[in-house]
Amino acid sequence: MPKTIIVSNRLPTKVLRTPDGLSFQPSEGGLATGLGSIYRQDGNMWVGWPGLFVEDESEEGFVRTQLAEDSMAPVFLTEQEIHDYYEGFSNGTLWPMFHYFAQLPVFDEALWEAYVTVNQKFCQAVLAQAGPEDTIWVHDYQLLLLPQMLRAARPHSTIGFFLHIPFPSYELIRILPWRRELLEGMLGADLIGFHTFGYMRHFLSSVAQLLGLPNQHGRIETPTRSVLVDAFPMGIDYERYAQAAASEAAQAHVQEYRAALKDVRVILSIDRLDYTKGIAQRLRAFALLLQRYPELRGHVSLLMVVVPSRDQVAQYASLKEEIDELVGRINAQYRTISWNPVHYFYRAFPFDELAGLYRLAEVAMVTPMRDGMNLVAKEFVASKADQRGVLILSERAGAARELADALIVNPTDTGQLAEALHEALVMPDEEQEHRMSNMQALVKRYNVFAWSRLFMERLAYAKTQQLNLA
Ligand code: G6P
Repeated sequence: MPKTIIVSNRLPTKVLRTPDGLSFQPSEGGLATGLGSIYRQDGNMWVGWPGLFVEDESEEGFVRTQLAEDSMAPVFLTEQEIHDYYEGFSNGTLWPMFHYFAQLPVFDEALWEAYVTVNQKFCQAVLAQAGPEDTIWVHDYQLLLLPQMLRAARPHSTIGFFLHIPFPSYELIRILPWRRELLEGMLGADLIGFHTFGYMRHFLSSVAQLLGLPNQHGRIETPTRSVLVDAFPMGIDYERYAQAAASEAAQAHVQEYRAALKDVRVILSIDRLDYTKGIAQRLRAFALLLQRYPELRGHVSLLMVVVPSRDQVAQYASLKEEIDELVGRINAQYRTISWNPVHYFYRAFPFDELAGLYRLAEVAMVTPMRDGMNLVAKEFVASKADQRGVLILSERAGAARELADALIVNPTDTGQLAEALHEALVMPDEEQEHRMSNMQALVKRYNVFAWSRLFMERLAYAKTQQLNLA
């Protein structure tokens, strides 16, 4: 039976070297979480980087065998490749550019070459797994060239591509020296998916202006094939979050946190450490809230989880310092012996503790500067069994296109953010329930299974359309 091969830079399992040997743990980030429930079905598999530099062939063999048991095939990368392709071109050039941080990207031919080489390496790894009938689904900005490379090797294969981050305006894309190659790379797919119609429009416009290829109803005609482009807002495994938050384990954590916090109300903030997430701006807004509403002091805390990420990239390390300093300043200014304004955690949380935090918090602040989708917003919504709780959501997160019942804010407007926090804290229960139930209905229905099913159905359709035209 034909299978589906998922390809992404990072596998949903990361392998860590510990004093007790190698340890296999779930990866951070929305993509691994989102597709984690899918790839084990029907003989499907996942190809990607296991996050470890292997020391010798026997270790490589061990990791390969272990991962194969869980339907994964590793692509091993060297330290140099991670430096140039992952930290360099993917996260030093593409990531800031696609998130509208136009001053940050580095333009370095050597990093570009590494990006090409590693995409080729992924291509070989996929070809080693894929039969002619199999469907290949490539994910995200680290692998923009892969669809075209696969197409050159397998002209008739069914290939899908999904971008998990924003696709920016043509005005940003045109700045990239390798803009043509990147767009052509994506066009190797039969179906190209984005989270929102806005990103899709930017892509179509870039292809029209830079490659001269017109489009009609989301279909691009290349000289050899037609390529379908569409929007598929990604969802979460709703039941997993709903059940976890309702579980006894989560309840036990809530009791433990409550005992420590007494009756202090909790505003929650959870992100990977990233300058796109607006973490520093969020802290400033919280400080402004305490300044404007002194009666809240002693009664509300910001519980901020920052998950370490990409710490070898310079901008990430300096952001960490900025956050540490801001937290220190706010706590030094406002804290009392019995109350801490900001509870700051710089580490990942186990799933059941996270579920406890979602259940505990009255307000979630999801205020990125730019974010392809943002699944934390949806996870918070899914966790609110009693439908109490308010989501504050950035207008520049893809999720804002769907979650219209959140308090939608401009994340750079600190004053608006502080007022939204206040509004959330005084919002009547009935209004909270009304907004939350609307959002729950949507997040539940358009869950990650519906998302992948829709994408796969559309991919099959794109292929039949091509065959009919041929
Ligand atoms: C975002 C990206 C993913 C990435 C994740 C974690 O969600 O869209 O492709 O895997 O961040 O980042 P990392 O660099 O640790 O894989």
